[in-house]
Amino acid sequence: MRRKLIAGNWKMNKTLPEAVELAGELKKQVGNVNDVDVVLCPPFPMLFSVGEIIKDSNIKLGAQNLFWEEQGAFTGEVAAPMLTSVGCQFVIVGHSERRKYFGETNQTVNRRIKAALKFGLTPILCVGETLEQREAGSMETVVTTQVKEGLADFSADEVAKMVIAYEPVWAIGTGRNATPEQAVEVHSLIRELLKSQYGADLANKFRIQYGGSVTPQNANELLQEEEIDGALVGGASLKADSFAAIIKAGELLSHA
Ligand code: 13P
Repeated sequence: MRRKLIAGNWKMNKTLPEAVELAGELKKQVGNVNDVDVVLCPPFPMLFSVGEIIKDSNIKLGAQNLFWEEQGAFTGEVAAPMLTSVGCQFVIVGHSERRKYFGETNQTVNRRIKAALKFGLTPILCVGETLEQREAGSMETVVTTQVKEGLADFSADEVAKMVIAYEPVWAIGTGRNATPEQAVEVHSLIRELLKSQYGADLANKFRIQYGGSVTPQNANELLQEEEIDGALVGGASLKADSFAAIIKAGELLSHA
């Protein structure tokens, strides 16, 4: 069984004192988790402080985005070596909110992934269709294109270092999660695509997370699916108790 990866995407939430409090509480509750990987993705200004709090625990640090250039005159942007220098090991790339509000395309996503890999960061590539696209019957085309173009020109060795998060846009922040069946259908589609492009060995080891209204209430039914290798959690990762409950659901399942 693949090791589950539970990541908390804090999005644009938490001031420094709030971030410090949440990270401290999570460290207390789940700092010594062993059977699942746990990643916190706070906003950029909080990365260092959160990293200091969790550095002697089993919780890892991730960022929510990065720019593809390494340094230079790019006002407001953040580069991969900056992220690694504050302790990041993961970085979310191509989240639907970045695609929707900040004009991210599969091509810019591809460049960001390249920069992440160059500096040893594990990219979490987010893909997922809107409700409109699902209702128009184009989920499969949309997700396939996002994966293919996002991963364009990467070798199998490079792809093996990544994670994909399937996040249907209609499930994000709506309280309406994809059913396990809906998630499994898309995860299988992505895994088949990886298999055809990079081989069965890579596809079998590759982790595909689900994201979109994951809560302590639905975590178990989603994570118990073998096809679902973890969760990318937004709202429910902003409170220690609910995020810890999701992590514990993942841990219990790894013993099942
Ligand atoms: P919610 O868990 O708030 O639906 O957000 C999911 C998400 O976008 C994680 O990246």
